[in-house]
Amino acid sequence: MCGIIGCVGRDAETLDVLLSGLDSLEYRGYDSAGVALANGSVAVEKREGELGHLKNAVAAGGDTSDLRGPAGIGHTRWSTHGPPSDENAHPHTDCAGEVAVVHNGIIENYDELKADLLDAGHEFDSDTDSEVVPHLVEDALADGATPEEAFRAAVARLEGSYALAAVFGDSEAILATREGSPLVLGVADNAAYLASDVPAFLEYTDRVVYLDDGEFARLESGSWTVTDREGRLLEKSVSRVEWDAEQTAKSGYDHYMLKEIHEQPQALRKCLRGRVDELTGTVDVDALAGLAAESVQFVACGTSYHAALFGAQSLREAGVPAQAFLASEYATSPPPVSDGTLVVGITQSGETADTLSALREAKNRGVETLAMTNVVGSTASRECDRTLFIRAGPEIGVAATKTFSSQVVACNLLSASLAEQGDARDVVEALRDLPGQVQEILDSSRAEQVAERFVYSEGYFFIGRGHHHPVALEGALKMKEITYEHAEGFPAGELKHGPLALVTSETPVFAVVTGRGEKATKTIGNVKEVEARDAPVVAVTDGVSEVERYADAVLEIPETHPRVAPVLANVQLQLVAYFVAKQLGRSIDKPRNLAKSVTVE
Ligand code: AGP
Ligand code: GLU
Repeated sequence: MCGIIGCVGRDAETLDVLLSGLDSLEYRGYDSAGVALANGSVAVEKREGELGHLKNAVAAGGDTSDLRGPAGIGHTRWSTHGPPSDENAHPHTDCAGEVAVVHNGIIENYDELKADLLDAGHEFDSDTDSEVVPHLVEDALADGATPEEAFRAAVARLEGSYALAAVFGDSEAILATREGSPLVLGVADNAAYLASDVPAFLEYTDRVVYLDDGEFARLESGSWTVTDREGRLLEKSVSRVEWDAEQTAKSGYDHYMLKEIHEQPQALRKCLRGRVDELTGTVDVDALAGLAAESVQFVACGTSYHAALFGAQSLREAGVPAQAFLASEYATSPPPVSDGTLVVGITQSGETADTLSALREAKNRGVETLAMTNVVGSTASRECDRTLFIRAGPEIGVAATKTFSSQVVACNLLSASLAEQGDARDVVEALRDLPGQVQEILDSSRAEQVAERFVYSEGYFFIGRGHHHPVALEGALKMKEITYEHAEGFPAGELKHGPLALVTSETPVFAVVTGRGEKATKTIGNVKEVEARDAPVVAVTDGVSEVERYADAVLEIPETHPRVAPVLANVQLQLVAYFVAKQLGRSIDKPRNLAKSVTVE
């Protein structure tokens, strides 16, 4: 998520280096930005919104600005705790203004740390989880620790994921560490840099040192050291980066879409972190505390609607009456609601006009609303009674990928929370293994070969039953969005009621079949129907049924719980769409006619 930049040893140029580093981190997505420079004390400037707001504020300070000094840090924030605002933007400082800290990630135990710090008399300026860090450092400094000891003591108390960098008023060093969020050092003869990603300093040096989780860096003019948690010096190798800036912006991937597909294991871990207890098999989501809905209506568009279809089905299985509605249709013929109805708007951006309008319709009818969104501070999150953040990180490719997976997982959390009598233990166990299983698929998928084989087809069909119906719809949507080829998804049993007329030897049919039992057997029956019409069949399967016997190609997925399998199957279909589009030379990240966030009805 978002970005960090730091630089020491550039003296009068520090501020310029930080601002240009933030420019090159913009692609990661952000909602506010800030800088801090150390020069006897720490000077901070930070602003909500685009980088231009920060630059204007910096320029307004003119020549008399105290934003000068040999060491500085900068940040682009992508909010997770507290809406985008000047106060919540990073860097954050302690009460005395002696230390400034930037943070990417989530500090899970910030609630208890903050309560202790407030009891001890600290005053907080923001709603962020991050602000606990400078106050913890301040406490340790007050106990006589050196800045480095204080930084380590503070970090030792953190749980969660973080990349952190700090500057101190009376020191010319930058201290940094990471755990689960990226941070890389750039080293030059008289200067040193750190950033979330190499492009932020690539114009100054191509020599980089990759930090690993649990390592601490100390950067000074012309020197740098990396130590482990216990303070032991580590011998880190210096690599030379051969990428150009454009490539590194996508971390070496050709497209943001592919990068985001590969980010799914990490995104899913973040969605689950602190919300499931593997030992007890229970789900505990703050946003859902005390929620008791008698029935649920989902409203959503596009990919989010497919997640809603999954959500409604899994809630029904959990004993809660639930339906999914296309948001653009919800107000046209509003379904009956009662006091116990909960309306859930699933929206990655939180800004989709159709979804907002359906949620407003629900509010006008006096029912409780829940936003399931990726974007903190978004309109949906501000207008709904509750918000469940999916924590997938910024998604830049117009085609939604990682956010669908996180939405499906969040729907599982919702249904486990509302379940009359839970089989949550099985689902929780499966969710625990999910990020690793997605990684397995990413490491071994044959989607590129399948795409090569079928790239010049006349059209593509996708079929699935039950939980795989939304996957079939999503597989087809991804295919049409980025390849501009005709693609349709159907419930497997529906094909014979009309669409079968379109099936020929030139239209591959992707069939999603997992597990055993009636659903699998019936879908295999539908596979045989298309096979009899000479259509090539690509089975997306865990290999439990014998569907591969009737398939021309197979995309394998690991075996898991039926409510988790759709995520795995969908990853294979994301990859197929991506590679077909790539071979056709399409504009993958910005497909024609489409926008990432559709703010008109
Ligand atoms: C997905 O690939 C599409 N870009 C589109 O269908 C999208 O899911 C839809 O517009 C809803 O967006 P939202 O989740 O931000 O509300
Ligand atoms: N959790 C922090 C916040 O909400 C950091 C978010 C980020 O990674 O930018 O401010």
